[in-house]
Amino acid sequence: MDLNYKINDEQYYIKIKDNIKNEISQNINKLVSDKKIIFLYDINIQKKIINKIIYDLKISGFSLIVTPIEGEKINKNEKLLFKIIDNLIANKFTKKSIILSCGGGVVGDVSALAASLYLRGLIYIHIPSTMTSIVDSCIGGKTAINYQSITNSFGTYYHPKFIFIYHELIKLIPQREYIAGIPEMLKCGLINDKKILTDLHKNKLVIARDKKTLNNLIYRSLKTKIKLFVHDIFEEKTRLYLNFGHTFAHSIEMTFDSKLRDVFRHGEAVGIGIICELKYASKNKRNKLIEISEEILDLYSLPKIITIKNKKLIQKIVTKIYNNIFLDKKRINNFPRYINLTTFKKPSIKEIRDLDLMLQVINKMII
Ligand SMILES: NC(=O)c1ccc[n+]([C@@H]2O[C@H](COP(=O)([O-])OP(=O)(O)OC[C@H]3O[C@@H](n4cnc5c(N)ncnc54)[C@H](O)[C@@H]3O)[C@@H](O)[C@H]2O)c1
Repeated sequence: MDLNYKINDEQYYIKIKDNIKNEISQNINKLVSDKKIIFLYDINIQKKIINKIIYDLKISGFSLIVTPIEGEKINKNEKLLFKIIDNLIANKFTKKSIILSCGGGVVGDVSALAASLYLRGLIYIHIPSTMTSIVDSCIGGKTAINYQSITNSFGTYYHPKFIFIYHELIKLIPQREYIAGIPEMLKCGLINDKKILTDLHKNKLVIARDKKTLNNLIYRSLKTKIKLFVHDIFEEKTRLYLNFGHTFAHSIEMTFDSKLRDVFRHGEAVGIGIICELKYASKNKRNKLIEISEEILDLYSLPKIITIKNKKLIQKIVTKIYNNIFLDKKRINNFPRYINLTTFKKPSIKEIRDLDLMLQVINKMII
């Protein structure tokens, strides 16, 4: 199954395949390149997958540099970015060389940033390896590192020429990285495509990683994203809607993720963020959208609220989340902005002007 799109007359390709064979080398061979590839991959991905990719590229005669990366969120920083750039310089990469990455949002965001900065851009190809990256971060071209502890504060827009999605890889994704992709699909269902919600209700099939159900969900989620970003790359209008849930989610991630480990996967924070933004939009009154969202999060045992063991810390955490919301990159004036949704498929961007209500929503989210 293929899904292609154009940006400024340039064609980009997404290929959804069962198994890793020789399509990466075959497609790279169609590009004008110097046949030099740096392969950046997340160390936690099963070796079987990585070895198959390396085998394809080696027997096809590419000059290959293989670099494993520790793809935790805490490593999404300038150190990793410059390690990649130094590697490109040391190996005399040109503008016609290729960065091929295989990983989740962290490896994808940093590799794409390096691809966009080195010599002002070389060829970039990506193989997403978590469910969040498969249904969301692999497209759209947002690249980033977290700088000065601010989520995605440093980045560019740069699009992978090819994206390869493999069911063989999906079958091996650890359960947590697999389920963490559900909230980004839920987001697409609420803002654009109700059929996604219908499919998410088939939780037994989704959890069993049923190919047909997954193909529908991946296809519809990526279609939603393409529809909203392709005519608004720099996020001035429709693309903003893809941030639904993210004003609160990024604040939660910034509050909890320490220098030592990430507490929440991005997708888990997005699930909680969706509930918060729906509650803020409805002025804390229950409605159909909140019910459906909570129901879907429950089906996958995803968090809807945050439980703190040491109750003495709650007030401090509430204050941190409140303050971090003001660091959100969508803010253009004094008030942070969020995606308002009170009716299916009718998102809008609004300022959070009722700060008491925002505080109430945060207070309800933490117990
Ligand atoms: N660019 C975008 O549009 C966009 C969109 C959404 C999220 N993001 C970013 O993506 C990041 C989150 O990415 P994520 O949720 O994909 O996870 P991740 O990249 O943070 O990876 C999570 C964990 O899974 C491991 N992992 C990855 N693939 C694996 C596999 N196949 N098998 C075993 N372990 C594997 C990693 O090593 C890591 O420990 C955040 O930094 C977020 O800001 C970017």
